[in-house]
Amino acid sequence: MNFIGPKAYIHIDHLNYNLQHIRNYIGNKSIMCVVKANGYGHGAIEISKNLDSNSDIILAVFSFEEALELRKAGIENEIFTFSKLREEYLQLADELRITLNACTFSNIKILTKYKQQNDSIPKFHLKFDTGMTRLGFDNDEADQVFKYIKDHNLFPEGIYSHFATADEGDLTYADYQLMKFKSLLNKSTDYGIEYKYVHCSNSGAVLNLPDAYFNLIRIGMLLYGVAPSDEVSMKIKVKPVMSFCGPIVNIRKVKTGTQISYGGEYKTDKNTNIGVVQTGFADGLPRDWYKDGYVSYKGNYYRIVGRICMDQLMIDFGEEQPKDGDEVLFFGKKDRDEIKIEDIAKKIGTTTYVLLTAIQGRTKRIII
Ligand SMILES: Cc1ncc(COP(=O)(O)O)c(C=O)c1O
Repeated sequence: MNFIGPKAYIHIDHLNYNLQHIRNYIGNKSIMCVVKANGYGHGAIEISKNLDSNSDIILAVFSFEEALELRKAGIENEIFTFSKLREEYLQLADELRITLNACTFSNIKILTKYKQQNDSIPKFHLKFDTGMTRLGFDNDEADQVFKYIKDHNLFPEGIYSHFATADEGDLTYADYQLMKFKSLLNKSTDYGIEYKYVHCSNSGAVLNLPDAYFNLIRIGMLLYGVAPSDEVSMKIKVKPVMSFCGPIVNIRKVKTGTQISYGGEYKTDKNTNIGVVQTGFADGLPRDWYKDGYVSYKGNYYRIVGRICMDQLMIDFGEEQPKDGDEVLFFGKKDRDEIKIEDIAKKIGTTTYVLLTAIQGRTKRIII
C-alpha cells in the first residue's frame, strides 16, 4: 500500500561522500561513526549497514540496548557504547564484541570481578571528564585509576574525553580541556599504560582543533552532512544525508480573510490556495518554525501559515496549484528543492542536533 506521511530520504551517496571527505581531511586516523539516537534520526541500522563495507569503522551508540539492536541486525563492526557500563551486560558485551565505557571506580571494579570469574573481559575505554561535568573520572583521580589499572592488569583499549565547546568561535575552554587531557596522557605514560585508541574529537573539534585528533576521531553531525554549529567554518565539504519531506493531502481555495489553524493567528490577505501537508510537530517538525517557516516545492519557497499542528500543517501556495500527493521539502536537498537545516536551527534558536534527532516515529525512511 502507498505510504502517506512524512518521509526522510536518506542519500547514501552523500553519506559516502562525507565520509570520504572527512577521511581525506583528517589523514591517517581511525574513525568512530556516531549512530546513537537512531543515527541522529537517519536510521541507525540503515546507516550502519551502509558503512559496514568499511570494516575499520567503529560505530558508537549511547545505550547498550542500541548496540544490541545493531548486532541483531547483523552489523559486524566494532561497537562502542557511551553510557556508563552496567554489570548485567558484561557477559553479553564480551560475547558480542561491544566495547564499554568505564567512567567510575565502581565500573573498573566490576570489570576486575568479571575478569577474575572469567577468562576474558569485555573491551573498554577509560573516560575522563575534562570539562563537560558529565560522565568520566576526574583528572585528580588519575593516579588512583592508572595505578588500579596497572595493578589489576586490566588493559583498557582506549582512553578518551569529550569537549563542551569545540564547535564554538571562542576555543579558550576547549584548549583548556585539551591541555587537561594531554596531562592525563602524560601521567598514563608514566604508569606504562598503552592504548590502541586515544580520542577526544567530535565534529566541532575535527573542524576546529586538529591538535586534538590523536589517533581516532568521533564524528556524528559532520558525517550526516550538517554543520555542528554556525560558529565553525566548514572546512570539509559535506552534503546533507537527509531530505525531510511531507505529502500534500488537501488543497483548499480560500478567500481573503480566512483564518488558518489553531488560534487563528494567521488570516489570508488575498484569495489563495492553501495546501494541507501531512506532517506535524509529532513528526519532529519544530512547532516554532511556523512563525517564519517555509517549505520548498518544485524549486520555489512557500510560507507555512498558521500554527503547525500535531500531524499536519498548512502552506500558502498563492497562485500555484500544487498537486494532491506531491511532496514538499522541509529541509535537506532533493531534486530542485533545498533548505538548509542550519538555517532553520538558527532562525528558531535551536540546534541541528535537536532538529535531526526529532525525526523518528511515523516518518518512513527511504534509502536512495
Ligand atoms: C561522547 C560523544 N562523542 C562524539 C559525539 C559526536 O558529536 P558530533 O555529532 O558533534 O560529531 C557525541 C555526540 O553527542 C558524543 O556524545
